[in-house]
Amino acid sequence: MLAMNYRGPQRVRVSHKPMPEIKHPEDAIVRVTRSCICGSDLHLYNGNVPDTRVGMTFGHEFIGIVEEIGSEVHKVKVGDHVLVPFNIACGKCHFCRQGLYGNCHESNTQATAVGGIFGYSHTAGGYDGGQAEFVRVPYANVGPTVIPPDMDPDDAVMLTDVVPTGYQAAEMGGIQPGDTVVVFGAGPVGIMAARCCWLFGAGRVIVLDQYEYRLEFVRNYANCEVYNFKEMDDPVVFIKKITDWMGADVVIDAVGAEAAGSALQTITGRKTLLQAGSATALHWAINSVKKGGIVSIVGVYGPTDNLVPIGNVVNKGLTLRANQASVKRLLPRLIEHVQNGILNPKALITHRIPLEEAADAYRMFSSKLDNCIKPVLIPPSARM
Ligand SMILES: NC(=O)c1ccc[n+]([C@@H]2O[C@H](COP(=O)([O-])OP(=O)(O)OC[C@H]3O[C@@H](n4cnc5c(N)ncnc54)[C@H](O)[C@@H]3O)[C@@H](O)[C@H]2O)c1
Ligand SMILES: [Zn+2]
Ligand SMILES: [Zn+2]
Repeated sequence: MLAMNYRGPQRVRVSHKPMPEIKHPEDAIVRVTRSCICGSDLHLYNGNVPDTRVGMTFGHEFIGIVEEIGSEVHKVKVGDHVLVPFNIACGKCHFCRQGLYGNCHESNTQATAVGGIFGYSHTAGGYDGGQAEFVRVPYANVGPTVIPPDMDPDDAVMLTDVVPTGYQAAEMGGIQPGDTVVVFGAGPVGIMAARCCWLFGAGRVIVLDQYEYRLEFVRNYANCEVYNFKEMDDPVVFIKKITDWMGADVVIDAVGAEAAGSALQTITGRKTLLQAGSATALHWAINSVKKGGIVSIVGVYGPTDNLVPIGNVVNKGLTLRANQASVKRLLPRLIEHVQNGILNPKALITHRIPLEEAADAYRMFSSKLDNCIKPVLIPPSARM
């Protein structure tokens, strides 16, 4: 089968790999119909995630048709069109039972923090992902969810990550009616987070990024105020100034390890990898939130992180909340929001690219060329 194949930092290609096989009675094999590239894939692409092995297939945002099932799979059947949450979760462990599907204790036994994630290095279990024609889906009674017949597949693929992550970013912010929320990052995750803030009663939503085309998009899509941090001396002072010098009630970091805006952070966190990513947006979040405020972090950082202003976290009495999104926990509510038109996730998809051209897609998305917000890869069989 054709599959995206990681060859080293900034080098991906599409090549032939063996067909995935059922290895456990609860596995399913899914024939992919759509698979997105995510900002999280850029951390892998840029070589910033430890133990990203040559030969791995990325892709944790995919939907597809169930092709084959193991003897103990009863929740889905061959022929079902399913959306597959990016987290791999057993559904039974201590953490899954609390709805913490991103922190499953069984699907990534080498680690104690994150559970398994499709196509996300051996630090997240070493599972091949869905930027391929076929993918093995473990615990098929837990994650895969049949796509409602009236749902557009482009909306469905956004429900595997971007919609739940944006929603959970707003949810973890503990937004109170009338709150001012600042969102750092106008990628797909920040865009969705900004829109979801209104669902929790925000009174004012402000988004910062460096790309005008993304700011323009989020201004229309999420009806928010937007500012370009490249035009400011100091984004923290700017936010204080526009919030009566109080700071925002809630700040969301939807940027993560690839953050721009600080030469020191870029050199230590992105170029030399002396720390696990550039913590620029995190600094700005901690420093621009009100005393007693909440910082909600969905931007992804590596397993260790230094140079974070932890002293300010203490002195300001902040609540930090962070996690991988628990997709399965949120799906029932979010499927309704998509069906009712409250969220319109497919509007974020700007590019549809044949799977065979994945290398070009990575280059374009990584460099933010051609006004790209969200690219989706379409395997040959799904284009017929
Ligand atoms: N926690 C989760 O479950 C989860 C799920 C999906 C994605 N993520 C993470 O969310 C982050 C965003 O993902 P995406 O797909 O939107 O990525 P993206 O790369 O498309 O967007 C990131 C945006 O942040 C902007 N940016 C860079 N530095 C900034 C700064 N200092 N301040 C404000 N904006 C800045 C960039 O210009 C870009 O537009 C990534 O770190 C990704 O790994 C987390
Ligand atoms: Zn993703
Ligand atoms: Zn579990």
